[in-house]
Amino acid sequence: MTYVRYKFRYISVVIIALWFGDNAQAESAVASAHPAATLAGKEILEAGGNAFDAAIAVAAALAVVEPYSSGIGGGGFFLLHNQKEGVNLFVDAREEAPGKATAGMYLDSSGDFVRDRSLNGPLAAAIPGLPAGLVYLSENFANLTLQENLMPAIRLAREGFLTGDRYEKMAGYRAPALRLHKDAAKIFLDQGNVPKAGFRVIQKDLAETLQAIAVSNGESFYRGDLARKMVDSVVSDGGIWRIEDLENYEVKIRQPLVSSYHDVKIISSPPPSSGGIALIEALNILERYDLKKYERDTYIHLVVEAMRRAYRDRADYLGDPDFVKVPVKELSSQIHADLLASSISDTEATPSSSLPQIGSRPKGTDTTHFSIVDRLGNRVAATLSINIPFGAAITAEGTGVLLNNEMDDFSAKPFTPNTYGLVGADANAIAPRKRPLSSMTPTFLEGTDRIAIMGTPGGSRIISMVLISALDFINGAEPIEMVSSKRFHHQYLPDQIYFEKDGLTSSEQESLSKKGHKLKESGRNYGNMQVIVIDKADGSVDAASDPRGEGSSVVW
Ligand code: GLY
Repeated sequence: MTYVRYKFRYISVVIIALWFGDNAQAESAVASAHPAATLAGKEILEAGGNAFDAAIAVAAALAVVEPYSSGIGGGGFFLLHNQKEGVNLFVDAREEAPGKATAGMYLDSSGDFVRDRSLNGPLAAAIPGLPAGLVYLSENFANLTLQENLMPAIRLAREGFLTGDRYEKMAGYRAPALRLHKDAAKIFLDQGNVPKAGFRVIQKDLAETLQAIAVSNGESFYRGDLARKMVDSVVSDGGIWRIEDLENYEVKIRQPLVSSYHDVKIISSPPPSSGGIALIEALNILERYDLKKYERDTYIHLVVEAMRRAYRDRADYLGDPDFVKVPVKELSSQIHADLLASSISDTEATPSSSLPQIGSRPKGTDTTHFSIVDRLGNRVAATLSINIPFGAAITAEGTGVLLNNEMDDFSAKPFTPNTYGLVGADANAIAPRKRPLSSMTPTFLEGTDRIAIMGTPGGSRIISMVLISALDFINGAEPIEMVSSKRFHHQYLPDQIYFEKDGLTSSEQESLSKKGHKLKESGRNYGNMQVIVIDKADGSVDAASDPRGEGSSVVW
């Protein structure tokens, strides 16, 4: 594959964007999963930074204050719109399997999958991509220096931040794993106990690490002192990282996927995200229906059937495009949508077992999201991850870098579900230097009069959440309605509609059961969506942060 390397340097003068005719973009906005990160973005925009500077600041701040969601030891995807150049591009800063990774590395001597190895401790950790992503944004798009953009995060790490209910919940869930690693427990727990809301988490080592990344432009992390420290720590704990794994890491610049749903342009995430293709496939199927004419129960049924088919293809075909041929064109084609839609009944659920089994074709969160727009019209939608809360629950000693457990996003064994219950075939098998398939789906929607910048964490349910809220946006929903949409989900296997607490009314449940759907209610709400909507006529902006989370949005 050829990577087009865009080299834009932003000129640090105020350019009046011509996008709105004679009107400049009227407002800027940041929406993120944590108020301290939203403020970091605002601080940088007010200091003369653009949306890309703010993205560096927000991503780094989230890495400090949401250690359960993303981090310097993790990775992610940045979907960018460069207004001046009129281009969209996708920065793939996804983690990569270490060079010594093997397809069977999580199987025991009987060939059984040992989940603990792919989730906890040093073997679960892939090579981090986030620092390289931040350096890439800094070198190619930023107005301010990396040091300036990392400063809010360095301050938060050095001076500490106060934990909230979410921290308490996530730390409670991961405390048993965190307690196994002295360094991680010391940083993230309160003398071995789950910190109560209001506890101050100070990360002095992480502050030094961020400072070293700023000063060395990432060199220290991938080639210098930090790289050596991390490898020594991982290896002494039983992991397989080598210094060359870090040296070899680079972000990959990919073309976003572009499609349309009626007159709305969809710009979304290409592989190794599965999100863009699944979103486009589902929307293509749904475009064949006049959705407005259906009652809500049948609407949900049809959306679920589209999800079922899109997730089936995800399981069968998708993997790192640098290792497997992903039939992007075919999967997002209208002919494929016709074929998939032809098996949908308005009145009856299609059992997943009746669809072609995955692997039968011939061989050939806890994550975070933020959205930003600046006054020039530049946009960023970024979804970042360390995988499940607190990643592998282990830090590289002395660096404050919490390691991810993104290796669990590979298919460790065909048909054996990962932690999100997702199954996969060979396309997503483990291989050295391969990137695990992701569900992260940062997306732009460009309608005739409005543009949305959106995304959410939520593991396998990211794609269905983006689909539901995209359909709501297309129907005229405002940002607060988009982030509040009731959530239901189908991922092909297990063959059931999973829905959040109060996600379906009892009459919808009854009607869907009658159509033959199995239903499973989650005991809680899920997702943490961050949305910005721009009015194309006057450049005004509206933003919203998911009421299920503790994030915030600002518009000014
Ligand atoms: N780790 C969640 C995802 O990338 O889908």
